[in-house]
Amino acid sequence: MKRLEPVSYGSLFFAPMEGITDEAFRKTIIKLYPEWDYLATDFLRVPSAGRYPSKHVVTHFGKELSQEEEIKNKTQFQIMTSHRSFTIEMIKQVVELNYPWLDINLGCPSNTVTKNGGGSSLLLDLVSLRPLIKTIRDCFPGRLTSKIRTGFHHTDEFEDSIKLLNDEGIEMITVHGRTRDMMYKEPAQWSFIEKAVKVSQVPIVGNGDIWCVNDIDRMLKETGCHSVMVARGALKFPWMAQSYRKGQMRETSQERCLKIKTFFMEYRLNLEAEEISDRGLLKQSKSVSRYMLDGVDNGDTIRRKLLLSQTVPDFFSIIESF
Ligand SMILES: Cc1cc2nc3c(=O)[nH]c(=O)nc-3n(C[C@H](O)[C@H](O)[C@H](O)COP(=O)(O)O)c2cc1C
Repeated sequence: MKRLEPVSYGSLFFAPMEGITDEAFRKTIIKLYPEWDYLATDFLRVPSAGRYPSKHVVTHFGKELSQEEEIKNKTQFQIMTSHRSFTIEMIKQVVELNYPWLDINLGCPSNTVTKNGGGSSLLLDLVSLRPLIKTIRDCFPGRLTSKIRTGFHHTDEFEDSIKLLNDEGIEMITVHGRTRDMMYKEPAQWSFIEKAVKVSQVPIVGNGDIWCVNDIDRMLKETGCHSVMVARGALKFPWMAQSYRKGQMRETSQERCLKIKTFFMEYRLNLEAEEISDRGLLKQSKSVSRYMLDGVDNGDTIRRKLLLSQTVPDFFSIIESF
């Protein structure tokens, strides 16, 4: 498997988001905002019985985007596993399918996931986590990275978790500055990103509460992290990387509405190309619209109308009227 070029300092990552960052969404971002240096897929759950058909893996990671070498090389293909899952089989399959970059999810806070021993719950027992990471490293010759929270209930073992990932050959670590118990509520604690930078030999990507262009430099400066990853802020401003690269610190509400409209027109085309049902198209468009209207003039009213729309034409006629 070809080794990827190193990630440059100050790279901008569009975060993985379950239910959002599917192929149609990523195609939209890549086409309109190529300034994002890297993107991520939402997690693929490693099955606890047998193997998925390869078709399922390719569909989850993106049928069309998986064909394009350049895009594949800038995508973190994320998996979520547990001690009970068929991890080795899954990794072998990913290698056969020639995905060059795998990211291990050690951060998902959802009850369903953690009850089954996945995501952030793996941080509860670092002794057991070590052989799991080692197994994945031994089977996967490509770039292996991980995305982690600062702990589950507390942060006492945070530095140990970073050291463990370093020891076991993880090549880059994204730190979301919250414990699992904090979910998304309290402010992200960037001091833990700074701590990770101090103990890690491999690059740290800082994540949590980047809401505007200025926050990007602030995080790089305050924490000393190598690169940054944006999730909800990038749903609100999918063009954030473009604004950052062009030094555009402000935009009017009118400019923003125009960008939202452009985004949804392109997104609709990409969803339609997948031949998904109208119901699916409406559901996806609603999910994506949730954050995008924050701060827009009259945004709450428009969002309510969008969320209440019953048909695809209804939804898009509201977007078109922007
Ligand atoms: C709707 C949603 C879905 C998410 N799905 C994933 C996921 O699949 N994998 C993952 O590692 N993190 C996931 N996250 C966490 C984000 O990637 C990110 O770590 C978190 O939102 C903090 O960053 P932010 O403050 O920029 O939003 C998700 C977050 C949201 C809001």
